[in-house]
Amino acid sequence: MAAAAWIGAACSRRAPQDRFAPTVVPVAAPALPVPSPTASIEVALRAHPAESVLDPAGGRAAQIWRFDGQLLAGGAEALVPSTSYLGPTFQVRRGQRVRVRFENGLDEPSIVHWHGLQLSQENDGHPRFAVAGGGKYHYDFTVENRPGTYWYHPHPDGRTGPQVYAGMAGLFLVVDPDDQARGLPTGEFDLPLVIQDRLLDDGGQLVYAANPMVGFLGDRIFVNGRPTPDIAVRSGSYRLRILNGSNSRIYKLAYSDNRPLTVIGTDGGLLGAPVRKPYVALAPGERIEIWADFGPSPAGGDVWLESRAFSGGGGTMGMGGMMSMGSMNGGSRLPNGAAFRVCRFVIRGTGRSLRLPPRFEPLDWRPNDEVVNRGQPRRIDVSMAMMRWMLNGQSFDMTDVAPNERVKLGTTEDWEIRNLSGTMAMPHPIHLHAGQFQVLERVVAPEWQASAASLQAGLVDEGWKDTVLLLPGERIRLRMRFERYPGLFVYHCHNLEHEDAGMMRNFLIEV
Ligand code: C2O
Ligand code: CU
Ligand code: CU
Repeated sequence: MAAAAWIGAACSRRAPQDRFAPTVVPVAAPALPVPSPTASIEVALRAHPAESVLDPAGGRAAQIWRFDGQLLAGGAEALVPSTSYLGPTFQVRRGQRVRVRFENGLDEPSIVHWHGLQLSQENDGHPRFAVAGGGKYHYDFTVENRPGTYWYHPHPDGRTGPQVYAGMAGLFLVVDPDDQARGLPTGEFDLPLVIQDRLLDDGGQLVYAANPMVGFLGDRIFVNGRPTPDIAVRSGSYRLRILNGSNSRIYKLAYSDNRPLTVIGTDGGLLGAPVRKPYVALAPGERIEIWADFGPSPAGGDVWLESRAFSGGGGTMGMGGMMSMGSMNGGSRLPNGAAFRVCRFVIRGTGRSLRLPPRFEPLDWRPNDEVVNRGQPRRIDVSMAMMRWMLNGQSFDMTDVAPNERVKLGTTEDWEIRNLSGTMAMPHPIHLHAGQFQVLERVVAPEWQASAASLQAGLVDEGWKDTVLLLPGERIRLRMRFERYPGLFVYHCHNLEHEDAGMMRNFLIEV
């Protein structure tokens, strides 16, 4: 399925060329003052076709779709403009009111979802709220989440993959004014990295060669919307906020010199205490925050962030066979599980080494006695029929809710998600809307343990999560509280092609 057709549609309207300087080593984000706590912000966010040079060698501008933002009210620090195809970065505080006037300048329906934020159903970007081309949608919400690294992207039924791929995604940071006081790197040393894979044709245009089984896998890695691998840093300490904004690719992130990664945060903000991992597994939709130290002086030497090889990425079968199936790789030259380099930290200039805090605030996990179905978790089975992945044997329907997809407002539940669909299995990043959950337990079936072993040490279940990587042959127990907002929300696979092909269902939070 070499579907370049949609990009043709995107060409019909052209916007001015993106600012892009391919030979310049990207610099770190500028230091910005944190927003004042009370001021509400208002943003005009427009999705529209545009151009951006994606291949510096080829030189020709690619047709993309992007979010452009304009701050209508609030301090300038609340919306950091993008210099790539990515959307602007929101930078807000907990308790701040955010109003967004979304305008869909595409020729097809779209809607914006604020991934990881706990919001009312009207503000959550459920596909049923998608507006047609030319349409508008107004958001008005107060940020309640813990400080952390969240993001936003389109969420129309069946078209999320192509829209995100075309460029529609951006960061939504909930910043904490106390970070400096607690000894965390701030300003230019608080560095977001959005990792995505892309496939370009000879003319430097994006090719969306996706298949509903494996998804989309590109062969070039973009960081912060740029194909240039070099990230300029200073010596000293950094907080790296890494988002996997790819459609289907899973990264097994490690440093080229094998030093361990120090993880300080996950999807829902800081951990209770830093943890060391030999590598980190990061699936589409997931975020990880890393404490990085680039040595006491610039002489420390450059280091690469790599993605290491792993098995069970989708090109393999269980039963110990580990057979590679060409079709399962979607024909990609860089299958899920292949090794490659992500970016190089080029050390230019001197920063400041900080002492890693031994702990952060304790995480208030939901206690056992609060769980209404303890010992009998709500079960969600990944299955496949007619080459489509499903949840409990069903595909997405805009409003349908099965009896086992109803939960009660103000309760805490355990869910068990199982990926036991037989010999043909893939990893699925499972994402729930309407809040953050904790990962209680993972169990891998014996015949999949060898495959799981190549990613397990990099799973970070120590913090609040909204997306969790479910390995082939694995079952995961989650705990989540349904608070504050009743309504219809979705849970789905964040492999965007799986989601678009129906691996998504509603759940209803009832009063
Ligand atoms: Cu990031 Cu429902 O998605
Ligand atoms: Cu989401
Ligand atoms: Cu999936």
